[in-house]
Amino acid sequence: DDPQQLARFEARVAADDFIEPNDWMPETYRKTLVRQMSQHAHSEIVGMLPEGNWLTRAPSLSRKAILLAKIQDEAGHGLYLYCAAETLGVSREQMIDALHDGSAKYSTIFNYPTLNWADIGAIGWLVDGAAIMNQVPLQRTSYGPYARAMVRICKEESFHQRQGFELMMHMVNGTPDQREMAQDALNRFWWPSLMMFGPPDDKSPNTERSMRWRIKRDTNDDLRQKFVDATVPQAELLGLTVPDPNLRWNEERGHYDFSPIDWEEFYAVVRGEGPVAQERMQARRKAWDDGAWVREAAASYETKHASARIA
Ligand code: 3HC
Repeated sequence: DDPQQLARFEARVAADDFIEPNDWMPETYRKTLVRQMSQHAHSEIVGMLPEGNWLTRAPSLSRKAILLAKIQDEAGHGLYLYCAAETLGVSREQMIDALHDGSAKYSTIFNYPTLNWADIGAIGWLVDGAAIMNQVPLQRTSYGPYARAMVRICKEESFHQRQGFELMMHMVNGTPDQREMAQDALNRFWWPSLMMFGPPDDKSPNTERSMRWRIKRDTNDDLRQKFVDATVPQAELLGLTVPDPNLRWNEERGHYDFSPIDWEEFYAVVRGEGPVAQERMQARRKAWDDGAWVREAAASYETKHASARIA
């Protein structure tokens, strides 16, 4: 990179300027944004599958309508983020191919199965709760199109979290069996939700540069701690027990202390060994193939009408 251009770029980022698609940017800035934004988009799209599994089995029409609205939002978030990533010169096909050939990731959390209806509550409450912690700071990420996409997405994310928490409140105030289902869902989703924030800061190859270039505004561990501090009181309000015997409020630190995370499990799931990872990728490849006719029809319609417009 040209040292003067780089100095100007770093001064702009340090002054909290937004970098726009036509601005000069270091190739590594562009590359790491394509990496993060496309994987963020993949997470939104793959994230529709665990909840879709329960759409036809929702316990009431209103629960079904709420879940349908949420899943529809996630699709929109994914498409929004693919469009924002395309401003960096990457095509939709390239991003989808990377997902399908395994070279691009999606969030580990979506490789865990949804075994019953309480999981839908735990996902809204914990997974979307973690997503909010991680996405609110991204509204001030230095890349303009990404920051603006986040503003819209964060508004919808808070509805996702609230409906999940409210679903859990219903379950804990229901029959003993429903209460037990809510506790079991918390037991299975607590640790994978903490892993959503990524590896510890000292094991994160991207954090130092992403913080310097203000792609990230907080580190993985800071956001994880914020999530634990905000969520433990919610679990107490629900009368549920967080599955961590070492969890306790540390007055000095002003934060909760919690047990070490099983990073072996995290890296195994990142490698694609999660419980339902195969099913998720098969479902996405099938959806892409089944949707080919729609893309072809839209493209031929566009060609036909574009020539009519020129004529
Ligand atoms: N799942 C899968 N891969 C993960 C991961 C996770 N939970 N956490 C980290 N990784 C990967 C990173 O992608 C990186 O691999 P790569 O270089 O091949 O991309 C590697 O592990 C090292 O992690 P780093 O901390 O160095 O990587 P980042 O600086 O990119 O930090 C991140 C990871 C915090 C997830 C960051 O990428 C980020 O903030 N992304 C945007 C938000 C996002 O994608 N959230 C995922 C959930 S979206 C969601 O939940 C939707 C909601 O509606 C339900």
